[in-house]
Amino acid sequence: MMRIGVFDSGIGGLSTLLACLRYLPKAHFLFYGDTAHSPYGDKSPGQVRQWTEVAYDWFIRAGVDAVVLACNTATSAAVTPIREYADVPVIGIEPAIKRALTLYPEGKILLLATAMTVAGAKLEQLLAQLPEARQRVQALACPGLAERIESQSADWQEQVQQYLQRRVLPACTADVQALVLGCTHYCWISDWTSGLAGRAIPTLDGNDGVARQLCRRLDIPLAAETCPALPGTASVDFHFTADSAAKIHIAQQLLAAYGIRIQLN
Ligand code: DGL
Repeated sequence: MMRIGVFDSGIGGLSTLLACLRYLPKAHFLFYGDTAHSPYGDKSPGQVRQWTEVAYDWFIRAGVDAVVLACNTATSAAVTPIREYADVPVIGIEPAIKRALTLYPEGKILLLATAMTVAGAKLEQLLAQLPEARQRVQALACPGLAERIESQSADWQEQVQQYLQRRVLPACTADVQALVLGCTHYCWISDWTSGLAGRAIPTLDGNDGVARQLCRRLDIPLAAETCPALPGTASVDFHFTADSAAKIHIAQQLLAAYGIRIQLN
């Protein structure tokens, strides 16, 4: 059975796991959430690189066939150096800016991401490659947002709503045609970001692209349809570096909301 490692600082990467399950329902997944060090977005790129390398080594010892960095921040800080020595395909996630520019050829694209992703050289390189990106893409760092989502505390939804009103709504000007979620944690609140400005703003993320790239790298024929249906069960081992029992419970609940029952090994 194919074994796939999926990595994030916490529960954000579960949204990427969902996309991977659509294409590889029979694979065995190892999900590693580095909750001991989250949130990554306000740490240094050197630290995030080091923690991502620790996770990569853990996956290799566990015998995976591929590693998915289901974290834009870790991809920004670590995918290039890890690929230099990696023995298995390493798939990173990047903000879906290219798709947004193509699908919405006029107006502004608002990118929401962590401070590290917004300041990183990887985003700079991506913007430099895409015509018009510099004029049309506005990047907004959202420090503290992933943290609020990660907490899943009794009032996390209220806290996130307040944050969005205060920090994101002012950036949703009338010329914004699409939102790009450049942090996997934000995928859990995509309904709120699209409705924030009192008009429906399409919201894009990179999860489907990551799942498709994973299939390509593993030579698995791609389903013709994008976004195939989710399976009812999934084989997943969870490894969280802190608060393990509580995080596993949250992970199971988040996936159960999509009708997925987890077979723990
Ligand atoms: N989920 C991560 C990302 O996609 C990072 C969130 C954080 O730990 O700051 O960027």
